[in-house]
Amino acid sequence: MARKDHAHPRARHWLIWLALLLALGAVVATIGWYKLFREVPQHFDDVEAYYRYGSIGTEPEEGLPYWVWRVLPEVFPQHLPEDAEDAGYAALGVAWEQGEPTPVGFSLKTLGFPRIGINCAACHTATYRTSADGERRIVPAGPQQTFDPQAYLRFLGEAAADPDFTADTLLAAIREETELSWLDRLLYRFLIIPRTRDGLLEQAEQFRWTEERPRWGPGRIDPFNPVKFHPDLLALDPAEDDTIGNSDIMPLWALDEQEGYALHWDGLNDAITEVVLSGAIGDGARPDSLPVEALGELEAYLRELAPPPYPFDTRDDQMAARGKVLFEETCAGCHGPEGARTGTVIPQSEVGTDRHRLAMWTAEAAERYNAYAEAYPWDFDAFVKTDGYVAKPLTGIWLRAPYLHNGSVPTVEDLLRPAEERPVVFHRGYDVYHPDRLGFIHEGEAAERHGFRYDTRQPGNGNAGHEYGTELPAQDRDALVEYLKTL
Ligand code: HEC
Ligand code: HEC
Repeated sequence: MARKDHAHPRARHWLIWLALLLALGAVVATIGWYKLFREVPQHFDDVEAYYRYGSIGTEPEEGLPYWVWRVLPEVFPQHLPEDAEDAGYAALGVAWEQGEPTPVGFSLKTLGFPRIGINCAACHTATYRTSADGERRIVPAGPQQTFDPQAYLRFLGEAAADPDFTADTLLAAIREETELSWLDRLLYRFLIIPRTRDGLLEQAEQFRWTEERPRWGPGRIDPFNPVKFHPDLLALDPAEDDTIGNSDIMPLWALDEQEGYALHWDGLNDAITEVVLSGAIGDGARPDSLPVEALGELEAYLRELAPPPYPFDTRDDQMAARGKVLFEETCAGCHGPEGARTGTVIPQSEVGTDRHRLAMWTAEAAERYNAYAEAYPWDFDAFVKTDGYVAKPLTGIWLRAPYLHNGSVPTVEDLLRPAEERPVVFHRGYDVYHPDRLGFIHEGEAAERHGFRYDTRQPGNGNAGHEYGTELPAQDRDALVEYLKTL
């Protein structure tokens, strides 16, 4: 009995301690959750603003802490492209609207702390100017021509590997931009900055295979090798696959007109919704973070969106009318709205363009992508392997330069010449438009200074094939160009 009497108060003590400990644990867990994972919904006035700056679910997997991201170019300017004229991320060719906290295509979302992730608009937004000192126009859904995603990846990897990527250096730079609380500074120092460094080094490792293959250059990526080789996605081995998928970014406007057509350059999927969702997966969203509903709204917006009209008045209507007739005769069977082959895959042996992009996508990759999301209601099952490239509708073709799937021909005028007469080397990534030739200015001092030297002799960069219309007299080719400006 006496023993029991003694045990009582001691047990109560333990209970009190336990309760205190649990309460403390709960407080720490709540603060930890709040500071590291709490999701703050984004708000946008309309779907276009969402398209430019909204999250597509890449932040949990690949989101970078905004403040760290923000100061990286100041701390590590030596890892930005050497000859860039612009400072900061603009050196990588991003489109940045005045007053916005991020460039177009970069979403700022708080998951515990503000994080930055990329979205569709990073690649699917065009810019152009009608003269070197003219205003830069930003066109959502147009194909990016200036942003260099590979240089961006390299910049992040090199910054993370730099001995100066330390909490001391980064927090000092962040202090110039914003005031973090004492607790935030602690979290940045001991958790967020070291974890970011590890994550970026890991990402650089995952893209190691790109170093042995030709540069993507601005406006191009290898779209599916990163998905094929990613350990959490298709998990194929880059050591056993030396394909080069370098391909030009495509426009996303007027998707409705492509209903039922083969999508992507090689037609590897013909379901618009699957291509939209897999676009987000390729950018770093994962099944659990994929905002399926928001992406559905985005798809609806893109289906209806029209490209901007050709921006110069130099059009000769009579010539364009003659060009229309020529187009009906020579091109419409593959590119016209009623064309029997429009939206279908034309065998590579027939169209004759560079074969590398086609070889990059394999039957095994298609099979694995179809199996990837089986447990989810949205699932993929339309990935296929094809034998050629799709003849697309030519909507907004003026802003889709350089041309062909690898962006190997700078202007339509050049495309209408036999392959051996097309430029062997030119510069892409300068966004001043040529008023006559249906393409960007790609030669001369300014293009060389601002652009990327594109050499068609590199594997994957070949400019051969697609010689349709090249046998027409010069006047007829000019008329065709004039008509194509109106599409
Ligand atoms: C890092 C750059 C990049 C990002 C980000 C990106 N894409 Fe793409 N997208 C491409 C490239 C390059 C292609 C052409 C790939 C190919 O087939 O070779 C493409 C092709 C497409 C196509 C096929 C268009 C057609 O006419 O066949 C669709 C649709 C598409 N993307 C949607 C999206 C959506 C939606 C997102 C965001 C969820 C997205 N993409 C994000 C680079 C990107
Ligand atoms: C037999 C079908 C066929 C005919 C005929 C044809 N094309 Fe094409 N066209 C294609 C295919 C396939 C591609 C994609 C090839 C690639 O990217 O490798 C293409 C690509 C293009 C592109 C580049 C699109 C882009 O976004 O970069 C343009 C421009 C073009 N064609 C214009 C024309 C014109 C003008 C004519 C008529 C003189 C014509 N084509 C005739 C099949 C055809």
